[in-house]
Amino acid sequence: MKFTDEIRRRRTFGIISHPDAGKTTLTEKLLLFGGAIQEAGAVKSNKIKKGATSDFMEIERQRGISVATSVLAFDYKNIKINILDTPGHKDFAEDTFRTLTAVDSVIVVIDVAKGVEEQTEKLVSVCRMRNIPMIVFINKLDREGKDAFELLDEIEQKLGLTVTPLSFPIGMGYDFKGIYNIWERNINLFSGDSRKNIEETIKISDLSSQDLNSIIGDKAADTLREELELTDIYPEFDQEKYQNGSLQPVFFGSALNNFGVRELLDCFVTIAPPPRPKESDTRIVSPEEKDFTGFVFKIHANMDPKHRDRLAFIKIVSGIFERNVPYLHTRHNKKLKFSSPNAFFAEKKEIVDISYPGDIVGLHDTGNFKIGDTLTQGEILQYKGIPSFSPEHFRYINNADPMKSKQLAKGIDQLMDEGVAQLFTLELNGRKVIGTVGALQYEVIQYRLEHEYGAKCTYENLNVHKACWVSPKDSENDEFKDFKRVKSKFLAKDKQGQLVFFADSSFSLQMTQQKYPSIQFHFTSEF
Ligand code: G4P
Repeated sequence: MKFTDEIRRRRTFGIISHPDAGKTTLTEKLLLFGGAIQEAGAVKSNKIKKGATSDFMEIERQRGISVATSVLAFDYKNIKINILDTPGHKDFAEDTFRTLTAVDSVIVVIDVAKGVEEQTEKLVSVCRMRNIPMIVFINKLDREGKDAFELLDEIEQKLGLTVTPLSFPIGMGYDFKGIYNIWERNINLFSGDSRKNIEETIKISDLSSQDLNSIIGDKAADTLREELELTDIYPEFDQEKYQNGSLQPVFFGSALNNFGVRELLDCFVTIAPPPRPKESDTRIVSPEEKDFTGFVFKIHANMDPKHRDRLAFIKIVSGIFERNVPYLHTRHNKKLKFSSPNAFFAEKKEIVDISYPGDIVGLHDTGNFKIGDTLTQGEILQYKGIPSFSPEHFRYINNADPMKSKQLAKGIDQLMDEGVAQLFTLELNGRKVIGTVGALQYEVIQYRLEHEYGAKCTYENLNVHKACWVSPKDSENDEFKDFKRVKSKFLAKDKQGQLVFFADSSFSLQMTQQKYPSIQFHFTSEF
């Protein structure tokens, strides 16, 4: 197959949702359709069960599973599909944000009864910022939930999307009869026992025909006709608008019952974008370019503490990645080659010789990589788009074993490279502060420092409301000098040496912003 055909047949995407909306179940059903697994239950959920937050075994188990399910690749209708796993737990949201820099589109799963939830809002806002094409899947139609129109409204309002339904439910919960596929103009009837089978659909070319009444009954047929008429208020589907992130198609179904999933998948492979061009610090790189480039979006520490090697996940942006060919690590300006790059499939990983744009390869790493690193065939460039988000929790980290300070420093360094949390050093006294998105990270760090690096740490609370990256218009002006003097107790450097301001309340942040108008305060490290 030609290089460009290989690119065109790839779809690399992520499924995002609030925990429990059905992400794992949907992933599994997609794999079933792709023939990548034979029966349900093969994909392990990577979520941390409620109430298990202090259970270290649970965290370890979760880490093990998350390497296994980091990337799930399969073929469907000659399309190579790469699903990138995104943790649903809010304490690991940063992991998900980073993974979103490696996807070309996403599917958003929403629970029909719960509607738009907090985590969905956060994740979708990141996708919106990046104009990532989104398809919405409303799940659990076999249960009572919100009215379809009400939900579509809620999605528009809370998520700021412009929706257009491409399928429509016929009834819901106890009365759920099936799905009218607006995209393909056919009906799929729900038998309540379709878990294993791939259902036949019934073609309905004319909605006004009596056939519809005889299939779903007079009442349901009338309701469906009325509702479909009402869907005229939504814009017509337009692939270009979907692909540039300004229109979001919506599907309804029940992942658990394997219902509405084929409709979703068939439409997805038709409309979802193949690998897209990506912005670097010097130029926009197109997938069709001959020379290989790629970047690290995830690092996973090895589960075996005796071998401290890690797996760096690279998204290939352009060209062909080949085994045993030296590539330039642009941050270190050093050539590296990889003898056993891994590709990931539903139930296994394998060494691969070549990979194409859109693909993910896992490279064994002994500490060379950190998140955001770029590999090229020689060109000096750095991919953009993996900002650090302002953490929400802050604690001092102290060394609890003076004999192991080296191990502690190394452990902290490597865990930060993995993106587990962010390290700040106070300007005033050099004390180290760890900032995280979720409180659970502190337990993970403490546990991993001890088990993987033989170091012990303790934490001390620090009252910080928000950390903002600071950029003065002019670092020499008096205003900035005054700011640095007055706020010296609240200033720190991040790992890259960028200046960060710790605001202890939203009020004090506001006051500071007012007092120093020539200084900009940023909530992500990318500005
Ligand atoms: P997540 O990855 O988004 O966190 O959700 P997951 O797929 O694990 O689904 C969460 C729960 O919702 C699971 O039940 C799952 O079986 C159920 N579920 C998923 N899709 C549907 C659906 O279409 N209809 C109905 N009725 N339920 C659905 P659980 O009891 O938490 O787990 P399990 O014991 O069934 O695995």
